[in-house]
Amino acid sequence: MIRLDNISFKYAGSEAFALRDINISVGAGEFVGVIGPAGAGKSTLAQALSGVVPHVRRGDFYGAAWVDGSDTVNTTPAELARSVGCVFQDVESQFATTMVEDEILYALENFSVPREDMPERVNQALLDMGIGDLRERSLFSLSGGQKQKVALAAVMALAPKLLVLDEPTGELDPKSSVQVLRLLQLMREKRGTTIVIVEQKIMLLCEFADRLIVMDKGRIALDGSVRELLNQPDQLLELGVNCPRVTSLAARMKARGWTNREPPINIPEAERMVREAIS
Ligand SMILES: Nc1ncnc2c1ncn2[C@@H]1O[C@H](COP(=O)(O)OP(=O)(O)OP(=O)(O)O)[C@@H](O)[C@H]1O
Ligand SMILES: [Mg+2]
Repeated sequence: MIRLDNISFKYAGSEAFALRDINISVGAGEFVGVIGPAGAGKSTLAQALSGVVPHVRRGDFYGAAWVDGSDTVNTTPAELARSVGCVFQDVESQFATTMVEDEILYALENFSVPREDMPERVNQALLDMGIGDLRERSLFSLSGGQKQKVALAAVMALAPKLLVLDEPTGELDPKSSVQVLRLLQLMREKRGTTIVIVEQKIMLLCEFADRLIVMDKGRIALDGSVRELLNQPDQLLELGVNCPRVTSLAARMKARGWTNREPPINIPEAERMVREAIS
C-alpha cells in the first residue's frame, strides 16, 4: 500500500532536512503507529503520504514514494485522496465548510458518493464518533476534541483504503481516545483499511498497532513489531520515548531476577507476569 524509497525532504527556505533517507514499506491492512519526539518529522512523513508534501508544502523532495500504486510526485493530492484519507494535526486547517454535517457531506460529494447513500453514511459516521448531537452545530463553536471527532467522522465516512492520522486523539480524553482506536481497528477488520497513525499515547498504540516506527531528527530510528520495540526499552528512552509502565515494571522485575518473561505489551500480560512471580 505504501512504499517509500530513500525519501528526503527539505522545506523551502529551510536549512535542515525534515525527512532523511526514509525507507518504509507498509502492506495492505497493516496498522502502523508512528512515534518520536517533537520535530522528529512525524507530520512531514504523514504529509508525504497524502501528497501535501511536496505539492502544497513545497521544498526539495528526493527519492520515490508510492501510495496505492501512485507515484506521489506525479499525482495530485486530490487524486491521491481517492485512496488516502487524512486527519491533519491541525484539524481546523483542513475544514472546508462551517457546519458539522456539511463538513461530512462535502467530503462525500467530492468523492462522488451516490446521493442516495449519503444520509446513511453521514448518520453512521456521526454515530460512530458519538457526535450525533453536534450535527447542526457550527464548527467554530466546537471544542478542540469535538473538532477532532468531526474531522475523523468526515474521513471515516469516506471509507478510504489508507487512513493517515496525525495525532487524532491529541485533544481527546482517554475514553474517547480508546473509542477512536477501536473504530480504526473495526475499519481494518471489516474493510482491510491500512492505518498509519502518529500518536503520543504509546500504550494505546501497543494495544492496537502491529508495528511501531520511531522517528528521530528526520530519520527512522526504529521500525518493528510492538513486541520487538518494547524489548528495547533503553533505545526507546534514549529517543525520548517513554515506555509503557508495564514495560518498565517488567525491566525492573527482570533486573531483580523475578521474571524472565518477554516484556508484556498489555495489562493482562503484565498481570500474568506478576502473578507468576508472586507464586
Ligand atoms: N512548513 C514548514 N516549513 C519549514 N519547516 C517546517 C515546516 N513544518 C515543519 N518544519 C520543520 O520540519 C521538522 C519536522 O517537523 P514535523 O512537524 O514533521 O515534526 P513532528 O515530529 O510532527 O513534530 P511534533 O511532535 O511537534 O508534531 C521540524 O524541524 C520543523 O521545524
Ligand atoms: Mg507533528
